[in-house]
Amino acid sequence: MKRDFLHITDFSTEEIHETFQLATKLKKYIREGVEYTPLKGKTMAMIFAKPSARTRISFETGMTQLGGHAIYLGPNDIGIGKREAVRDIARVISRYDDVIMARLFDHTHILELAKYSSVPVINGLTDLNHPCQIMADIFTVLEHRGNLDNLKVAFIGDGNNVANSWINLSARLPMHFVLASPTGYDPNEAIVENARKTGISRVEITRNPVEAVRDADVIYTDVWASMGQEAETEKRKKDFMPYQVNAELVKHAKSDCLIMHCLPAHRGDEITDEVIDSENSIVFDEAENRMHVQKAIILKVMLG
Ligand code: CP
Ligand code: NVA
Repeated sequence: MKRDFLHITDFSTEEIHETFQLATKLKKYIREGVEYTPLKGKTMAMIFAKPSARTRISFETGMTQLGGHAIYLGPNDIGIGKREAVRDIARVISRYDDVIMARLFDHTHILELAKYSSVPVINGLTDLNHPCQIMADIFTVLEHRGNLDNLKVAFIGDGNNVANSWINLSARLPMHFVLASPTGYDPNEAIVENARKTGISRVEITRNPVEAVRDADVIYTDVWASMGQEAETEKRKKDFMPYQVNAELVKHAKSDCLIMHCLPAHRGDEITDEVIDSENSIVFDEAENRMHVQKAIILKVMLG
């Protein structure tokens, strides 16, 4: 049976910890200049229906470092679901390449891609979730704190794809996760329900950002309008302004609270310059760890 990584919950708690151990080793190899090329001769097809900096660069560089190769297929190349049916492109790429990474709009498209591919499929973001991002995020928290004990994460802003993946993570690793969002911007109900059902974490949704950040170890935010929601930008700016992560809000968290953002950030909107550039901000460690953690994910789905 081939493995896919479409949701954090596709990995067990044990596999998540194994991924972190592998990522630590791979990061050390890079730091020490040790060559490690288990994917020699292997090719990844990277399908991007949306723009990207980090995801494209980290996957492509990561494949090169592992001895393999990655092909970038941009929004105008395949036309997945438009120029060609998802199931057909899945079967075609499976004849050429060894692994697929896809960033798509519709989550059902990545499910279909995985169903009809005979090679592993990795989710590089859909409208529903962004699992590689949150795997890298929690790995970064672990690096900074040394453990994940009694962790309180306050997500301030939209209950979007990134928030949904945090909630999926809470179904695998124990934490107190609080999302503060305006009415109408809650995360996916089924994902929240599933996480709560596991009983592993405490998952809360509130309208009060100050309450959310009280005693938080991590404050996380993301853009107010995600890719594909550009037409709603002005309305969202009004709705989300009370949820800006600024110095006044951060004051209510622990003094050593880590500030996180998946990037790209809209400075001055969801987060101020002062906060994103502060000493507590670990946004560039997060960005770097995308590569180390994704390399571990690639190896886990390809080699087991
Ligand atoms: N955080 C993230 O996925 O960045 P990109 O959209 O630039 O890939
Ligand atoms: N929520 C954002 C994340 C970008 C990495 C988006 O989907 O555009």
